[in-house]
Amino acid sequence: MAEPPAPLSGQDVGSFAYLTIKDRIPQILTKVIDTLHRHKNEFFEKHGEEGMEAEKKAISLLSRLRNELQTDKPIVPLVEKFADTDVWNQYLDYQQSLVKEGDGRPSWFHSPWLFVECYMYRRIHEAIIQSPPIDDFDVFKESKDQNFFESQQSIIALCTHLQQLVRTADDLEENQLKNELSKLLQISLWGNRCDLSISGGESSSQKSDLLNSLEDLKPFILVNDLDQLWSLLSKYKKAGGDPSVLRVDIVLDNSGFELVTDLVLADFLLSSKLATEIHFHGKAIPWFVSDTTIHDFNWLIEQMKSSNHRWMSKCGADWQKYINTGRWAYHDHMFWTLPHAYCAMPQVAPDLHAELQKAHLILFKGDLNYRKLTGDRRWEFTVPFHQALSGFHPAPLCSIRTLKAEVQVGLQPGQAEQLSAAEPRWLTSGQYGVLQFHALL
Ligand code: F6P
Ligand code: MG
Repeated sequence: MAEPPAPLSGQDVGSFAYLTIKDRIPQILTKVIDTLHRHKNEFFEKHGEEGMEAEKKAISLLSRLRNELQTDKPIVPLVEKFADTDVWNQYLDYQQSLVKEGDGRPSWFHSPWLFVECYMYRRIHEAIIQSPPIDDFDVFKESKDQNFFESQQSIIALCTHLQQLVRTADDLEENQLKNELSKLLQISLWGNRCDLSISGGESSSQKSDLLNSLEDLKPFILVNDLDQLWSLLSKYKKAGGDPSVLRVDIVLDNSGFELVTDLVLADFLLSSKLATEIHFHGKAIPWFVSDTTIHDFNWLIEQMKSSNHRWMSKCGADWQKYINTGRWAYHDHMFWTLPHAYCAMPQVAPDLHAELQKAHLILFKGDLNYRKLTGDRRWEFTVPFHQALSGFHPAPLCSIRTLKAEVQVGLQPGQAEQLSAAEPRWLTSGQYGVLQFHALL
């Protein structure tokens, strides 16, 4: 087999990876420092002088991190003992082993982009856990919550739509069911535009009514494997309870509006009997600004339950019931916040790989998941998706992602050239999306 292409890297001056490391990541770090500053009084009220000292310590660690990055210093090992510290440091050693003799240690701009970007978020976490008693402070919580509140109108529209649908789900003809599934998949896709790391942590909520925009947005879906997804799910439904468990796993991405779109989709899969169990996978630590942790997941369901809006609170109550009865399960695993491509999962996290093998379908939400599925490499645009997965296929899987990084596979010959001519930023603007499926070979 031919060697896979090189990973994207900040070495390529002017590339999106380069600009991210040069501009967007320092901007995010500055925001994190500012957030800690603004919570100073809260830390004092909660922990007294110790809280103030902790805030100072975290800020000084983060300022050092920003300086290392901006002056392209070597990547240093993690020091604080945590569940994944050894795995991270082994990965650092591996990166070191790839550096040619005489080139020194891997540095921020001279390493794979996926690795350094993940490392940056892991170092933010290290600065926080090194600063007790504020070591459980989520520096991104405020902006995640704000995204939820600012998307209220869209959330209400979505919940109202779902509740109408659920009431008629049993009477829907096959083509209607397919059509409804298609709509909710597209909503979950466009929900992925709302991540906070692409906007440098600035507000990026959903203000327009997505349901009414779906037709206009269709030309922006570059790969749409809905038919294959549908034939997989409807095949099981037609088999009428054999197997008795039909499991769909959703590897979550961002909290706030995107998470609502994913939960609405998950609710519909159960209500329409296209699935009997949904397993969600979230992040164990705050990650890429807006990614979902268990705290965000629980917080959002609480918010929904206590909403004054009838259909929003009904959704919240139903979702709580699904959790209580085990039809929805939430998992986290440290692998999701490691820098590895997913093809390394069987070696690095065999337990997680075995868990995913139990699924009949896995939905991977968002851009970062796509980068990890494809190894964040400079693949030709026409390379088939399964080739870029490099052997990763625990179960049939589908990536639902808006494009925010310079990696894309599975396009038709000439498609990328046409897009480049029409819109030079098509790979990173978040305006385009894919619903890209791969069944087991
Ligand atoms: O900052 C880089 C990046 O990985 C982009 O590719 C993307 O904008 C973002 O972070 C994460 O996006 P998502 O939330 O869709 O995974
Ligand atoms: Mg994200």
